[in-house]
Amino acid sequence: MNQANKHSQSEIEAKETILEITEKLGIPQIERHLLLCSDQTKPKCCTKEASLASWNYLKSRLKELKLDRPTADRPNCIFRTKANCLRVCSEGPILLVYPDGTWYKNVTPEAIEKIIQEHLIGNRVVAEYVFYQRPLPETGKVAELENLESDSEQ
Ligand code: FES
Repeated sequence: MNQANKHSQSEIEAKETILEITEKLGIPQIERHLLLCSDQTKPKCCTKEASLASWNYLKSRLKELKLDRPTADRPNCIFRTKANCLRVCSEGPILLVYPDGTWYKNVTPEAIEKIIQEHLIGNRVVAEYVFYQRPLPETGKVAELENLESDSEQ
């Protein structure tokens, strides 16, 4: 092992465990997951700058409003992911809200503010920006974690 590899190996070992990271991110308390088309490799639905302005606004507002982590008043949190492209590639930036399955178009910072206030806080979709709505169905196909663990022991 060369010096560069040794260094990166010790850096990796010094990091938190994946379970510590999971807890820190509030993954067990996720109420909604937002995916925003942003910082695209091939910007098609809007300019990269417009998508980044929306991403930065979303990120900072969730933080300011303390929606990005569980609090004493609100045990759940909103998780956000910067998606390179959501494959719609028209009238962006495109925002997808799960588990509601709400697809939003033209999500400028102004639209994001409305979506935060009305959808994420008020639980009402913002009709003027919705272009499709389809909550994901329960598949019933995934085994419970306990079953997975006992299966892997065999
Ligand atoms: S580039 Fe935004 S959805 Fe594809």
